[in-house]
Amino acid sequence: KILSLTAVSPINIALIKYWGKCDEIEIIPINSSLSITLNCDDLCSTTTVSLGESYEESELILNGKSEGFSDRIKRMLSFLTDSIPAEGAKAWDTVKGEEITIPKEDLLKMKVHVESTNNFPTASGVASSSSGLSCLALCLNKVYGCEMDLGECSRLARLGSGSACRSLFGGFVIWDKGFDLTNFEDIRNITPEQVLEASKNSKAIQVKDESHWDEIALVICVATSEKKKIASTKGMKDSVDTSEFLAYRATNIVPKRLENITKAIEDKDWNTFTEIIIKESNSLHASCLDTYPPIFYMNETTKNLASLTHDINQNFYEPVAAYTVDAGANCFLITKKKHLNYLIDLVSDVAGLDDSKIKFNFKDEIETEH
Ligand code: DP6
Repeated sequence: KILSLTAVSPINIALIKYWGKCDEIEIIPINSSLSITLNCDDLCSTTTVSLGESYEESELILNGKSEGFSDRIKRMLSFLTDSIPAEGAKAWDTVKGEEITIPKEDLLKMKVHVESTNNFPTASGVASSSSGLSCLALCLNKVYGCEMDLGECSRLARLGSGSACRSLFGGFVIWDKGFDLTNFEDIRNITPEQVLEASKNSKAIQVKDESHWDEIALVICVATSEKKKIASTKGMKDSVDTSEFLAYRATNIVPKRLENITKAIEDKDWNTFTEIIIKESNSLHASCLDTYPPIFYMNETTKNLASLTHDINQNFYEPVAAYTVDAGANCFLITKKKHLNYLIDLVSDVAGLDDSKIKFNFKDEIETEH
């Protein structure tokens, strides 16, 4: 018997950054974060999950390369076991041409075969884990017949990779940290009971859907297609262990910014929105620099793009763009559709740029007012 399901999931870009965990297994973040989810057309992962008795071993094939299941994927599968309904999952019998039900005990005996591809460079700071693991969560939920809503599914995705939980929703999304501790030492030394509680509550919530602010567009500037030197999981762990600035940021800076950017989104207050995005991005990279030994993700091209953005913004009646950079050198420019052509012209001249890909957040028409 083979049960198979394919899903497609987009990347999301953090505007208020997640950097640091207080529990590595349950993936509980030290602060809440906020992101925008791209539409699915280009930057996305496609994942197929198949369950079958004939597979010899459970297997993950990522971009054509076979890998074993990581501890995180094993954790996702064990989380799922409790949610599988006792009566099992529905499947289509292709021989008989009818719907059948596969009981839970049979489902659990089957080996899991996962095949996932990204249509963009993996692990280069274009948020590949966010689309890959959210896609896996969607597939697993369906193929095992669990009827988790998107919030619950975001908990499952979180166990695969923190940022993935935000890709379950479109538009503007908050990943709630799931606990109320305010002192960093208490957060760092979170007790096992508190982790258990936080794990139930730490999930994604949609703030506004994709139609709310549809004049926003995104330009992705590929400053390098190389794999980043320090994976975010390791980088953020080192930062939690050594950066005093990160501790201050998580408890004193992020909560206020999260509140202010949520209001800016609700009010469509572009000036406040863009300023917070830029400050947040730099705050992430300041935490990396304050880590010991320091971590450098931005390269010269990234810095040139940041300077260019400030130069353009100074000479205009409103900010033309905000930049945001994750754990890599690539740069995301958040702009308005009416500024797109102008911005892309300027950006194309930046030295060292491999490629600049235009992504429209929600709709495809461009209006140019320049
Ligand atoms: C810089 O979600 O890749 O993109 O939870 O360890 O898998 P793990 O980390 P990951 O971290 C992404 C961090 C970031 C900022 C963000 O997306 O909020």
